[in-house]
Amino acid sequence: MDPQALKDSWANTARHGDEVPLFFYSHLFLTHPETRGMFPMSMAGQRDKLVAALGRIVSDVDRLDEVLPFIQQLGRDHRRFAVLAEHYPAVGESLLATLAHFNGAQWTEALAGQWAEAYGLVAQVMTEAAEQAAQHSPPWWNGEIIGIERRGLDIAVLQVRTDHPYPYQPGQSAAVEFSRRPRLWRYLTPANAPRADHTIELHVKIVDGGQVSTALVQSAALGDTLRIGAPVGTALVLPDDGADLLMVAGATGLAPLRALLEQLDRQWQADRTERRVDLFHGVRTAFDLYEHQLLGELAAARPWFRYVPVVSHDASFSGQRGLVGDVAAGAGRWADRLCLVCGSPDMVRHTVSALGSAGVPAEQVRYDEFTPGTEPTPAPAAAATPGGIGGGRWGQ
Ligand SMILES: Cc1cc2nc3c(=O)[nH]c(=O)nc-3n(C[C@H](O)[C@H](O)[C@H](O)COP(=O)(O)OP(=O)(O)OC[C@H]3O[C@@H](n4cnc5c(N)ncnc54)[C@H](O)[C@@H]3O)c2cc1C
Ligand code: HEM
Repeated sequence: MDPQALKDSWANTARHGDEVPLFFYSHLFLTHPETRGMFPMSMAGQRDKLVAALGRIVSDVDRLDEVLPFIQQLGRDHRRFAVLAEHYPAVGESLLATLAHFNGAQWTEALAGQWAEAYGLVAQVMTEAAEQAAQHSPPWWNGEIIGIERRGLDIAVLQVRTDHPYPYQPGQSAAVEFSRRPRLWRYLTPANAPRADHTIELHVKIVDGGQVSTALVQSAALGDTLRIGAPVGTALVLPDDGADLLMVAGATGLAPLRALLEQLDRQWQADRTERRVDLFHGVRTAFDLYEHQLLGELAAARPWFRYVPVVSHDASFSGQRGLVGDVAAGAGRWADRLCLVCGSPDMVRHTVSALGSAGVPAEQVRYDEFTPGTEPTPAPAAAATPGGIGGGRWGQ
């Protein structure tokens, strides 16, 4: 196989922008109408996920060993779309037809053979991983909303009970489909460590014009249902090295960090092992400090924990004001800390750069962005452990 030829022909294709998914989906739905029902009802203007990833992933086939865990995760995760092994040839045909169309005269039989081989390898890894996962986990977990707290105009805290224990590690996220917005899957992050009663807590903030976040915050009702995909992401899962932590969150970027705090607090309650943690939570106005009470109580009760609320757009706020990345970076010497950052893409970019300027080595900074349409770093196959660790909020 000639990996460079694959990459070049994908680059040739991708530069045609929106025409590429338009061609791909028209081909797929015409030749295999049975696949139409798996995709969002309206494809108009949707941020295309499948095609954008497809060519990139397949043309990376020369790094298959490096990206193997990612592709396996993708295969397991595709079970939530009800994708079966027999759907792969259909997508493969449409991918090749799309490449042929956009590469014109440069498309040769030899190149077609290489793409077919590369796609076949990736598809094989995905289907095998899905088949293996099917032996021990469902394609998705069903969840029912059993609690809704609206905290301010644009944030809701939802309690969701899953039908089976949901096996995740604090810091991981999940693709979620809300019954009132079918087939629009969005990533959300459990804000708690696994609980014995199979409930997970979700913190959702409205994004302007957002189809799913607006529905979840404004119209979710008790008894509404969610589908929850397999846990994904490793960036914020805590390593076992006991390092002290600096946490920097923007808005609902607090969710994974709060789950980690609950995990650390349980460890502290069990054996009094202390790990210094400083958490900076950045929001626009004091009104947006939606976990102020809980975090304040925790800080008062735990010698190892400091909580610093930071407000950027309210001159009357009497605490720390400014961008949370600047405030956190300037508030201590963090060179020996593991720094965990989570929030919007802008917030994360700014914070990572501020920490770098303050002398924190890049390898000590880990982050997750709430970037629409990106797949989080996949979880290793054996990472997740079943729930049932017990405990609710910060109780003794
Ligand atoms: C790994 C991961 C974990 C996440 N966890 C959470 C969480 O716990 N809580 C939470 O509230 N959100 C979380 N998000 C963001 C969430 O997945 C959605 O992107 C967000 O809820 C908006 O979806 P929507 O359907 O309402 O907006 P869409 O209808 O998809 O988008 C509407 C418009 O807003 C823009 N947009 C979409 N999302 C964002 C964003 N995050 N920042 C800026 N602009 C955006 C789009 O480009 C579009 O222009 C997470 C994202 C990722 C990748
Ligand atoms: C090599 C094969 C494939 C690769 C690399 C691939 C890759 C991807 C990726 C990366 C995403 C985005 C995931 C996310 O955002 O969580 C995605 C979404 C999706 N894929 Fe695949 N996929 C493949 C095959 C298939 C097949 C065979 C089907 C079945 C027809 C399929 C159906 C879907 C659907 C329905 C979505 C969601 C699309 C949306 O919400 O817009 N994929 N795929």
